Amino acid sequence: MDRSDPSGSIGFHLNQSPVAVRPLAGERLSQVLRARLGALEVKIGCNAGDCGACTVLLDGAPVCACLTPAQQAAGRLVETASGLLRDPLGRRLAASFQDHQAAQCGICTPGMVMAAIALLRGVSKPTPGQVADALGGVLCRCTGYRKIIDAVVAVGSGWLSPEGSGAIGTPFGRLDGAAKLTGAEAYGDDVAPPGALVVQVIRSPHPRAAFRFVDLERWLIGQPGLACVLTARDVPGLNAFGVIPSFVDQPVFATAETRFRGEAVAAVVGEAEAMARFDPAGFPVLWEPRDPVLDPASALAEAAIELHSGKARNILCGGFVACGDAEAALARADIVVEGQFETGFVEHAYIEPEAGFARLCDGRIEIHACTQAPMMDRAAMALILAMPPEAIRIVPTAVGGGFGAKLDLSVQPYIALAALKTGRPARITYTRGESMQSTTKRHPARISIHLGATSDGRICGLTVGADFNTGAYASWGPTVATRVPVHASGPYRIADYRATSRAIYTNNPPAGAFRGFGVPQMAIAQESLFDQMADRLGIDPLEFRLRNALANGAPTVCGQVFATGVGIRECLEALRPAWARHKALAAAFNASPGVLRRGVGLAAGWYGCGSTSLP
Ligand code: FES
Ligand code: FES
Repeated sequence: MDRSDPSGSIGFHLNQSPVAVRPLAGERLSQVLRARLGALEVKIGCNAGDCGACTVLLDGAPVCACLTPAQQAAGRLVETASGLLRDPLGRRLAASFQDHQAAQCGICTPGMVMAAIALLRGVSKPTPGQVADALGGVLCRCTGYRKIIDAVVAVGSGWLSPEGSGAIGTPFGRLDGAAKLTGAEAYGDDVAPPGALVVQVIRSPHPRAAFRFVDLERWLIGQPGLACVLTARDVPGLNAFGVIPSFVDQPVFATAETRFRGEAVAAVVGEAEAMARFDPAGFPVLWEPRDPVLDPASALAEAAIELHSGKARNILCGGFVACGDAEAALARADIVVEGQFETGFVEHAYIEPEAGFARLCDGRIEIHACTQAPMMDRAAMALILAMPPEAIRIVPTAVGGGFGAKLDLSVQPYIALAALKTGRPARITYTRGESMQSTTKRHPARISIHLGATSDGRICGLTVGADFNTGAYASWGPTVATRVPVHASGPYRIADYRATSRAIYTNNPPAGAFRGFGVPQMAIAQESLFDQMADRLGIDPLEFRLRNALANGAPTVCGQVFATGVGIRECLEALRPAWARHKALAAAFNASPGVLRRGVGLAAGWYGCGSTSLP
């Protein structure tokens, strides 16, 4: 097998083929495999050794290709997922992944299967614990791991792929599963044509700052390999985007002042080699940091700055639902419990960072990107580019996890503007850091809640006040603010109810869609308070919920009546065995000597929040 030579070239086997490359000093194996050898089945999630998506086998041992210097491959065998189906063990593993539905978005799957192959070659019948250990370096945000572990264990246990009958009710493999297993599935970073220009966004290092550029034209002349700089002046249409037409407020490029750390002010476009050397710290922009408002309490203060002109006290919008007379019901309740709950920003942490490329094609602009909402992207880009929608073609790539955040625009405006200005294809891939800085998060919430009940365990009044930190721009804040009051009752029958909520602007990254639009935050508060109430009443928490569960024919707090389909009672009944086991374990725990007694609640994570008062 080839080894390194004095010219700097190295040779190694990639799957079954001998290859030769000349890596740059310190170049990553992942870079060499993807950019030079076309091995796009090696996926990149973090480029920092954290996610394991780039796992390949080096002489049979799993390694993170992003942390492995390419020179270490000299004279060795590198195996990637594209070779999975070449041997019987790989084919059985692939079939098992399919039958266990173990590949969902698929961005982690090539790394998973390589780690699994390495294990199965050494341990023919691994236990679930051994599989979990062996695959522990590869993160998956979609599956919850159980299906993956089951799929690998099944290969060692003599399992045979069942013949799918095709009958209704019988499982079948994902139609796109095979491509995910071998890494052939193309994500946002896998689709750009060779020679595409590279775009890098220049971002605010401050949560709030004035700024100005210093002679961009002259600076650009002294930068070999750079093609252009984009700023707000290059936006031919509306320098703003958003997901709800009447709440479009986020600039493509900030002008005069930035509103969150990571906000875009400009973009640099250049040849790939020049951009690999480009240091954004040298970009000619002068910053003048200003005092930010970082939390809703500060933003609501009378003296607070107004992030958006006309939005008094930084209130983006609010929501309200009421039925009956909640205050009167609380006044006559036998017991009232109350609580204050806070949740934080949550990053979606999909394994695939935002990526894509754009090009001019047949008189249209084509934007290839990982997106959850191509039609919404097209409408937003038509406004930004001042082009008719039919002149814009959005080509969605596979999405390596989105969970709501890829409903909003991210890379699309920058690559489209770069392609329009230069006439050449332009690509971008966010680093993990800029993905986390600049894209939407789950709304932090501050929730105040009062719950009343009669002594026989019937709910008698519920009031909710909830503020959601929507960050610097609206995104899905209006949806969160208006949806939460509708759902704050949970799936329970509550005759007297009042819920209000607000979305508040602050100098933080925009908060947007994230599985549930504010309802999970609300459910934590409401269900935790239900546990507290059950404890005060001396009623089993499951029983308390059953006594108040919504049923067919009963109105929700919005007055909607479902004739059929309300299934909460059946769900709660299905929990009984697990709940009995949980209570037995908790009782044994509390009986142990020297253990501080803890409450037993159905709601995850509640111990000691809130307070209780008698009316
Ligand atoms: Fe290599 Fe995440 S560990 S890309
Ligand atoms: Fe694992 Fe999506 S299937 S990250």
